Amino acid sequence: MSETKSKKKRKTAAKATSGSETPKAEIAQLTAEISHHDDLYYRHDAPEISDSAYDALRRRLEELEKAHPELRRPDSPTAKVGAAPVGAFGKIRHDVPMLSLGNAFDDQDVVDFVERVRRFLKLGEEDALEITSEPKIDGLSISIRYEHGELIQAATRGDGTEGENVTANIKTVRDIPHTLKGKNVPEVIDVRGEIYLGDDDFEKLNAAQAKNGDKVFANPRNAAAGSLRQLDPSITAKRPLKFFAYAWGAASKLPADTQAGVVAAFKHWGLPVNPLMRIAAKTEALLAFYHDIESKRASLGYDIDGVVYKVNRLDYQERLGFVSRSPRWAIAHKFAAEQATTVLEKIDIQVGRTGALTPVAKLKPVTVGGVVVSNATLHNEDEIARKDIREGDTVVVQRAGDVIPQVVEVVRDKRPAHSHPFKFPTVCPVCGSHAVRESEEETGKVDVVRRCTGGLICPAQVKERLKHFVSRNALDIEGLGTEKIEFFFETGRIKSPADIFTLEARDQASDEPLMKVRGFKETSVRKLFAAIDARRNVPLDRFLYALGIRHIGETTAKDLAKAYGTLEALRAAVEAAIKGGKDSEAYRDIDNIEGIGETVVDALIDFFDERHNQEQLSALLREITVTPYVRAQLKETPVTGKTVVFTGTLMKLTRNEAKAQAERLGAKVSGSVSKKTDYVVAGAEAGSKLDNARALGVTVLDEDAWLALIGQS
Ligand code: IVH
Repeated sequence: MSETKSKKKRKTAAKATSGSETPKAEIAQLTAEISHHDDLYYRHDAPEISDSAYDALRRRLEELEKAHPELRRPDSPTAKVGAAPVGAFGKIRHDVPMLSLGNAFDDQDVVDFVERVRRFLKLGEEDALEITSEPKIDGLSISIRYEHGELIQAATRGDGTEGENVTANIKTVRDIPHTLKGKNVPEVIDVRGEIYLGDDDFEKLNAAQAKNGDKVFANPRNAAAGSLRQLDPSITAKRPLKFFAYAWGAASKLPADTQAGVVAAFKHWGLPVNPLMRIAAKTEALLAFYHDIESKRASLGYDIDGVVYKVNRLDYQERLGFVSRSPRWAIAHKFAAEQATTVLEKIDIQVGRTGALTPVAKLKPVTVGGVVVSNATLHNEDEIARKDIREGDTVVVQRAGDVIPQVVEVVRDKRPAHSHPFKFPTVCPVCGSHAVRESEEETGKVDVVRRCTGGLICPAQVKERLKHFVSRNALDIEGLGTEKIEFFFETGRIKSPADIFTLEARDQASDEPLMKVRGFKETSVRKLFAAIDARRNVPLDRFLYALGIRHIGETTAKDLAKAYGTLEALRAAVEAAIKGGKDSEAYRDIDNIEGIGETVVDALIDFFDERHNQEQLSALLREITVTPYVRAQLKETPVTGKTVVFTGTLMKLTRNEAKAQAERLGAKVSGSVSKKTDYVVAGAEAGSKLDNARALGVTVLDEDAWLALIGQS
């Protein structure tokens, strides 16, 4: 969308709301307006107003509803999370990214961490260095914004830069106050911490899920995530989610100058904090804390997967800054993976969406770290050969955190007398087609994965493609999960993606409509059809990802969608490349797109050159509309697209901070000055870069002028 168009829209929004005369009229106006923007955002991925303008509309509506509860409309968008029909949450950009932690796996790694920190800070032996220790909660991290002490928004971590708006759901968590108490609450603060589910509550939830024939969760973490991602906040409200606050993002002012001090303030404000947090000055004390927590792990009542150490002084934290995506001032000391010994009864070969044959170990069920494990991944045939894993062997299995259990090794002296090395099949166990290991044309390197060559004649591949097509990051059809696809596929109701969209019409004409099938109820069938209908308009990037073309994941799908805008344009480009061949300009045009390489171009060609695929695509396009890709709007700032070089010592910001802030505002930060540089920001004792800038006539700013330019002075 062009900037002018979006500005025009924004103006209309402002006028419409301020033009209404009575609160009732204004509420009606705002309700309609917000629903309109929800629709654009969720259904079309094409917002017309900025997030802050949208938030302002919502805040105004919430304000009016609070003042006039009797005027609150049943269709009020403030009661919904996201737009109900699509099942997606809105996105929230984190003002300060939510990063991850580096890991320590043994005591020596912790010793090294402390030494690294001391060296970086140039501390002498006699200088104290306080470090906090606390459990690492195995939940999901969340950022909650309080303004003037009021909870106004909450977001998941997402990719660290942008998370999902889960405000309505977070507001149902009893542990989390809607208003912070106390005097020193800052004007704005993003409180960060972990949402989790206690062990008992997890057991109870799973028992209830099983009783109702609903999904049983693998562990408390998944259950917490599933509970938070409910579109209907009243369901989240019924799940006893809990919270520990342990960090923060953007803050107008901090209540203390140490980590422990800020956490103590959190507690004072009414936020739950972990009671086990300690401060220590010696590495031995950190390790003692770790081993003590490890011994108490099973009886804490909630899952933890290690201990987190953080440098206590915030000025030290600031100086230490970040390396890549983790702070230099903190580290996670992980618990060792848990292991158990059991018998591998059989090696099953599963066939995936792209035909990959994946060996899975079927185990005699065994408890590993509190979870019953009966399957473990064996990766691929080379791995089986390398470890000489055989059916009937006694094996050591290991589970670490969320990872799929793995077979670590075979216990050789327990091997049965007449066992044979495992023979990996060379034909597909499902369709009987040849299964081959491809080799790279140029290098001759053989792929570790053996693949079924059956393509669409292989039922396993077709079924897996269907599952992928409806999955969350693809079409995201609510209520049409793995099990339903299995059922519809096995009963012949859905054999291709297009069949999903003709299901209702065929069902109405059928002798055995779904409503009469065991396990289906009238309302659930109606809901399913509605959910399918809600996906008849699909944004191009999601659609491309949903097709499940090899090597086209979400990022590549987005890159292609960005480059071509419409499916027609992309199809035309690929068809030209098919005609022209590998040396043609058409082939190179696709290859030249940012983020796209030959592997992807070849995969596109393979896909579109296949008659079955073309037929399926045409059938699908008779049912659904692929909507053009619309670029997400980045807020324009005075430095959007400008190249900036920082040099010399800055007084108000660390170099890292200055850099991160500039990048957040859309600037490119470079390490050297050239003619292309727009600004050189020079601190004290700037050297040759400043001379260069002057010689090249590049604008030089001092720190204050820079801050004024970006509106931070
Ligand atoms: S501090 C800058 N403290 O671990 C990073 N994280 O591996 C600030 N986590 O994404 C995070 N318990 O979800 C911190 N006591 C704790 C934690 C904790 C769990 C999670 C958090 C983070 C992940 C990093």
